[in-house]
Amino acid sequence: MPDFPTTQRAFLFADPAAHSLSPRMHGAAFAYAGLPGTYEARRVPAGELAAAVAGLRAPDVLGANLSLPHKEAALPLLDSLSDAARAIGAVNTVVHRDGQLRGENTDAPGLLAALRDAGLPDLGSGVPVVILGAGGAARAAAFVALRDLRARAWIVNRTLDRARALAAAFRPYGEVQAAAPQDVPWADAPLVINASSAGLNNPGQTPLDAAFLARLPAGALVYDMVYRPAETRLMLEARAHGLGAENGLGMLAHQARLAFTAWTGADVPVRVFLDALTGTAGAGTGADAGAGRTP
Ligand SMILES: NC(=O)c1ccc[n+]([C@@H]2O[C@H](COP(=O)([O-])OP(=O)(O)OC[C@H]3O[C@@H](n4cnc5c(N)ncnc54)[C@H](OP(=O)(O)O)[C@@H]3O)[C@@H](O)[C@H]2O)c1
Repeated sequence: MPDFPTTQRAFLFADPAAHSLSPRMHGAAFAYAGLPGTYEARRVPAGELAAAVAGLRAPDVLGANLSLPHKEAALPLLDSLSDAARAIGAVNTVVHRDGQLRGENTDAPGLLAALRDAGLPDLGSGVPVVILGAGGAARAAAFVALRDLRARAWIVNRTLDRARALAAAFRPYGEVQAAAPQDVPWADAPLVINASSAGLNNPGQTPLDAAFLARLPAGALVYDMVYRPAETRLMLEARAHGLGAENGLGMLAHQARLAFTAWTGADVPVRVFLDALTGTAGAGTGADAGAGRTP
């Protein structure tokens, strides 16, 4: 584990920011790693983003997470971008080093890690993966589907024109097309990713008619990026059809873990972040964590 000589700071810039779960996760990670760091969720209105980002160049700042509405707007304010951030067109993590700010996107590798945790096997090249939604989260999912899974991505969205625009933007990365649900080859798709906000804080809402779930093959996985409620209608209906279903907590934990490592160099197990999210933090964090710590 690395060591800091003095307290280092990290932030979340978002609007709103008050109900973010990130301070819990990163607080637990600093405690686990034994590092003197702080993480503060700050409400930053759009008009104040440039000044807030400029403040990240201070010597005692590790960086920041960005959330709505700043993930796209921050790009021109940074000195460099990772491949994923450039392709997705969104930055969720800013890393500060010696006055330079680098934009990363840990949502994409966080999603991939969560899919692996959920038991997703290697898919054959060109296998259909269905992505529901066409916003920022869907762009991260498309990046994972095309670049990591080598899949053929089918983008299904309430507003078909937005799905078409996303597909056009990602065509340089692989086979991708927009489609209405009835035109998707469901029977061949081992993975459906809900990257829409349908179901968020709304247990009765779903982005997909259950009739389409019935067409998926045995063993298919439905990954819902939504994590409030913990069991969405989409997940419940997928399970009722005998399919695997997971919520977005794993992705949330993994994207935070990857950001924390980028800032600090410390490799904190994802369990620490998950425990912080589910309210079971304490047993594996803090001063008593050393004995149970995995490398
Ligand atoms: N687990 C994680 O770590 C993680 C990370 C990132 C995002 N997320 C979640 O992913 C979701 C999307 O985030 P985002 O940033 O991409 O949002 P966004 O850019 O606002 O996009 C929202 C998408 O959801 C669709 N949508 C909204 N309401 C719908 C409804 N009632 N029925 C069908 N489609 C609907 C929209 O369709 P239209 O184009 O037709 O408006 C759009 O495609 C959110 O729930 C967010 O919390 C989770």
